[in-house]
Amino acid sequence: MCSLLTLLFCATFLLSFINTAKILGIFPAPSISHQIIFQPIWKELSLRGHQVTVITPNPLNDTKLTNLTEIDVSYTYEIIARSMFVNNLYKRENTLWTLWMMYDVGLEVNQADLNDEKVQSILKDTKEEFDLVIFQSTHNFNVLTLGYGGRFKCPLIAISSLGVFLHAHDAVGNPTHPVISPDIMLNFSGELSFLDRVKSFLFNFWYRFLYYYYALPKADKIARKYFGEDMPYLGDIEKNISLMMLNVNPIIHTVRPNVPNVIEINQMHIRDKKPLPKDLKDYLDASPRGVVYFSLGSNVKSANLSSNIRQEIIGALGELPYNVLWKWESDYLPDRPKNVMTRKWLPQQDILGHPNVKVFVTQGGLQSIEEAITNEVPMVGMPFITDQPSNIKKIEDLGMGLSVDYKTLKKEQLKKAIMEVAENTKYKENVQKSKAILVDQPMKGVEKAVWWIEYVIRHKGAKHLRSPAADMSFFEYFMVDVVLFLGGCVVLALYLVIKIASLTKNVTKSTKKVKKH
Ligand SMILES: *[C@@H]1O[C@H](CO)[C@@H](O)[C@H](O)[C@H]1NC(C)=O
Ligand SMILES: *[C@@H]1O[C@H](CO)[C@@H](O)[C@H](O)[C@H]1NC(C)=O
Ligand SMILES: *[C@@H]1O[C@H](CO)[C@@H](O)[C@H](O)[C@H]1NC(C)=O
Ligand SMILES: *[C@@H]1O[C@H](CO)[C@@H](O)[C@H](O)[C@H]1NC(C)=O
Ligand SMILES: *[C@@H]1O[C@H](CO)[C@@H](O)[C@H](O)[C@H]1NC(C)=O
Repeated sequence: MCSLLTLLFCATFLLSFINTAKILGIFPAPSISHQIIFQPIWKELSLRGHQVTVITPNPLNDTKLTNLTEIDVSYTYEIIARSMFVNNLYKRENTLWTLWMMYDVGLEVNQADLNDEKVQSILKDTKEEFDLVIFQSTHNFNVLTLGYGGRFKCPLIAISSLGVFLHAHDAVGNPTHPVISPDIMLNFSGELSFLDRVKSFLFNFWYRFLYYYYALPKADKIARKYFGEDMPYLGDIEKNISLMMLNVNPIIHTVRPNVPNVIEINQMHIRDKKPLPKDLKDYLDASPRGVVYFSLGSNVKSANLSSNIRQEIIGALGELPYNVLWKWESDYLPDRPKNVMTRKWLPQQDILGHPNVKVFVTQGGLQSIEEAITNEVPMVGMPFITDQPSNIKKIEDLGMGLSVDYKTLKKEQLKKAIMEVAENTKYKENVQKSKAILVDQPMKGVEKAVWWIEYVIRHKGAKHLRSPAADMSFFEYFMVDVVLFLGGCVVLALYLVIKIASLTKNVTKSTKKVKKH
């Protein structure tokens, strides 16, 4: 009874401290698969009474969210589409080249956001204040956004829809061991070969060189145009990050050591099931032998595949004893087999939740994989870009599915892979095992994210969680000075030992000589 009263007292005490805050969120990446991770966070914050303003290319447009102001920058999608087209991004496989180019595209998107009239009116209003700035951290879309942190001089939270890149780990002093935690751009998974380890080691230098000597200075110059000449250096603002949230899960991602202000969240976009539209429900219900659900996600469009690959896929799907539901982004599918139904858009989570869905053919995006696992659907992976190849490799390693290579795809391969995953129960059993681990967590992803955001608001930052490593130089961190000093001592000691030895030798020689005489 006594403890209950104390508890009640504590609860009211705490509540009186959670005053609502003014929050600015900057989520620039024009890609829905990033935005669906952040949307539930800004929605929940506004429902909890915070005054939230977000800059996003994917506003929710929900008029019921009266505490939420969304600045729609959906026109930045065109910048990405243009650069993908001009640079043929899908066809390049050189990590270093991709990184370099994506920096410049990111700057362009950031500037488009900054030039937005509504963003300008916030920046120009000298009385405008925020209690917290939350920004999306990725290798390319966050460099300029750091400027907002400098402008409003308030605590900063970085959040990523994936893991983060090396510079973000550096900012909070998180360990970046090249062999234990290779960078996400490197597409490594499982045990690293010797060559992989050499590559990862060199990448750690190369990336930092690119970031600290090219990307940051370049962005800093541009940022001054928007945030004023008296703005602190962007790199110093980055060091001010209170908390960093990573969207990683224990199934796909390798375990890594984290400092206390790095918070791992996941399943952000997983929501309660909604009823399916009638036509889809009827189709799925009327397919007792099973359905293959085929979708390459939002970045890779099935309709943009070359006609050779399309023919191989159509050939394979047409020979399956199952019905197929294909997210095909065009009105017309040439040579559509009878058992294939296409739609430009599909409610993926609800479809995967239907008991007749046997196999999910996916590009291997993190969100799609989380949806497949929570709905217990085994997968056939057809990876294209970024983290997709390594995600799919992990799915194979865990026995949750198989993969095919779209570049050399033959219809027999795809058909064989789908049949194996559909008919061999081991794949589904392994997915069920992973699901049990994935959902067994103390709080849901969104709850956890919001709890930590309010924690930073309550304490006006989180300096007390900051690792001393974040403020150390390379020499201090790797104890270069200590090693040099101790090495010097050893050399000195050796030198003295040798010197003394030769001296005593001489002395004994001369005493012997004296004796002889
Ligand atoms: C808006 O915020 C107030 C407190 O500032 C809160 O009482 C109210 O429930 C919030 N409304 C909505 C729709 O989020
Ligand atoms: C929100 O509104 C914008 C512009 O009015 C529109 O482009 C976008 O599609 C809408 N988004 C949703 C989810 O309704
Ligand atoms: C760091 O954040 C604090 C407030 O949390 C602010 O007063 C300070 O100016 C910031 N420093 C830089 C370099 O942005
Ligand atoms: C990709 O497909 C869309 C239609 O879904 C089309 O508008 C666009 O031009 C295609 N792009 C390329 C590069 O083929
Ligand atoms: C990623 O690695 C896998 C093998 O681990 C390889 O098959 C694939 O081609 C790689 N993809 C890219 C884009 O480098």
